[in-house]
Amino acid sequence: MIKQNLGSAPSLRLYRKESTTKALTTEQQEIINLKKDKNAILLCHNYQIEPIQQVADYVGDSLGLARQAASTDADIIIFCGVHFMAETAKILNPSKTVLLPDLDAGCSLSDSCPADQLADYKAKNPDLFVVAYVNCSAAVKALSDVICTSGNAVQIVNQVPENREILFVPDQNLGQWVIGQTGRKMRLWPGSCYAHVLFTQESIERCRLEYPKAPVVAHPECVQTVRDLADKVCSTEKMVNFCKDHSSDTFIILTESGMMHRLTRELPDKTFIAGPTGNCACNDCRFMKMNTVKNLLECLRSSSPEITMDAHIIEKSRLPIEKMLEWSS
Ligand code: 13P
Ligand code: SF4
Repeated sequence: MIKQNLGSAPSLRLYRKESTTKALTTEQQEIINLKKDKNAILLCHNYQIEPIQQVADYVGDSLGLARQAASTDADIIIFCGVHFMAETAKILNPSKTVLLPDLDAGCSLSDSCPADQLADYKAKNPDLFVVAYVNCSAAVKALSDVICTSGNAVQIVNQVPENREILFVPDQNLGQWVIGQTGRKMRLWPGSCYAHVLFTQESIERCRLEYPKAPVVAHPECVQTVRDLADKVCSTEKMVNFCKDHSSDTFIILTESGMMHRLTRELPDKTFIAGPTGNCACNDCRFMKMNTVKNLLECLRSSSPEITMDAHIIEKSRLPIEKMLEWSS
């Protein structure tokens, strides 16, 4: 059955470190110079394109980025990721300028939990303890008791007082995985990442048929039938450590394709196969890909667009983020 599908399936995309290192372009060099002139730090998520990762001061997952944002002494934070990540940096640094090259770089998970709907739900269920995945708006964070990322969700949920019933928002797939890891019952908000749910059991089984020895590493935002096929389920940062410590030289990676750049840069002797979806050889997040070298450079030159937020929301949303940093330190 699976073999029959092989003919029509998209061919797999393999990533290896290129043997020649490309010189920086004039635009990339200008970005580096401007950062220095303006005392700006470029924080970059693992899903960004390679030319942006190359000029970043820090490349990492949501937890690492939040920690960097909390500790920087730069005057300007320029964020190459999506809107909720830049907002988190602003919440932690209200007096600093936080820039995002394209303010429309959103997130389907964040969109799946509007703050007014969560407020209504809480009003009807006032005793719930709300754990919010960091992929949500500042207004949703302000309604939450503690924030988590995929890197610390298990650790955070394990610290919620036993006598409190948990509502986990907005990712039902991450929430379901956390239930399995902690044994803790939780109500799940019905949100999901439009990109990670494109991996299917069939597309991954097909890939494994070609590379039966390659361990499968999946992000917890994947659906359960896909997570069940994985040798390791973890955040993007933990993927780097898992592949580093594992004896295999080839891995099937089930997350956004930008991750392959980080992996090949850090582990130049290993090969990474981008997990295929039902009809594509890899998986891009259209929001993450809104940042380009061109709009990053323009953003640095003009110091805009800037993240601006209501002072009241900053104050209210900072508490659950600080609680997360404290609980996961
Ligand atoms: P990580 O925190 O694992 O990098 O995930 C962020 C994200 O948006 C995944 O889609
Ligand atoms: Fe949001 Fe999914 Fe994109 Fe991550 S990959 S930023 S969860 S839409």
